[in-house]
Amino acid sequence: ESTAVVVVAAGSGERLGYGMPKAKVPLGGEAILTHALRGVASADIARQICVAIPEGDQELRALCEEFRQETGEDGPLISVVDGGSTRADSVRAALGKVLDGTRSVLVHDAARALTPDRVFQRVAAALSSGAKAVIPAMPVVDTVKTVTDTVGDDAGIAPEIVTGTAPREQLRAVQTPQGFDFGTLVRAHAAAEQFDDSQAAAITDDAMLVELLGIPVHAVRGASQSLKITTPLDLIIAESLLEGPLG
Ligand code: C5P
Repeated sequence: ESTAVVVVAAGSGERLGYGMPKAKVPLGGEAILTHALRGVASADIARQICVAIPEGDQELRALCEEFRQETGEDGPLISVVDGGSTRADSVRAALGKVLDGTRSVLVHDAARALTPDRVFQRVAAALSSGAKAVIPAMPVVDTVKTVTDTVGDDAGIAPEIVTGTAPREQLRAVQTPQGFDFGTLVRAHAAAEQFDDSQAAAITDDAMLVELLGIPVHAVRGASQSLKITTPLDLIIAESLLEGPLG
């Protein structure tokens, strides 16, 4: 069965504070993107990997080329594409490179550079069993509340006021790789292209676009090593994971 993995690596990485795209930031001496690509190849589920990088970034393009040489002729086909200004734009750009005849696509954040093989395999297995959409998910440890900005007098006390408490046992923190039937994902992203700016800004993963089509999204177990490296603290955790027993 033919599976492609889209790796989105076109983000700016501002929150990490390195002054360079996050995919280039070193982790254990190698770029975050290199770790992410190795993770995908090691799971051994893809015949093709499509990488979205910041537009015109020659360094990241060269890094993909190095990875292509590392995996050799027996490795997956590596396609590189310029990403867009939002994550969804980057996914759409990469989907344009997916080979004809592909049945399933996994979309993975380069920032989740340490995702273990078993998570890729759980997602791929659920797709093989007939699911059209599969996401890795983790229970939530914090209590999660909704808030609004305060107006008037209350603004003097605190900037936000709580409007509700979500039932924690029903909540999941969602990771990548998210897996889809290829046709379904293309349809979901085509629908999202019509969104206005505020709707587009509210897209934070691919599965939510499939949910809007009314197609069931299945959740399998994720992994804590799949953390999305976003802040300096995350980078410290990722370095420790690499050095420790989980590395
Ligand atoms: O910004 P966020 O943390 O949601 O980014 C998640 C992933 O999406 C990252 O791996 C980032 O590189 C990617 N991304 C992208 N194109 C964008 C924005 C984010 O490929 N325009």
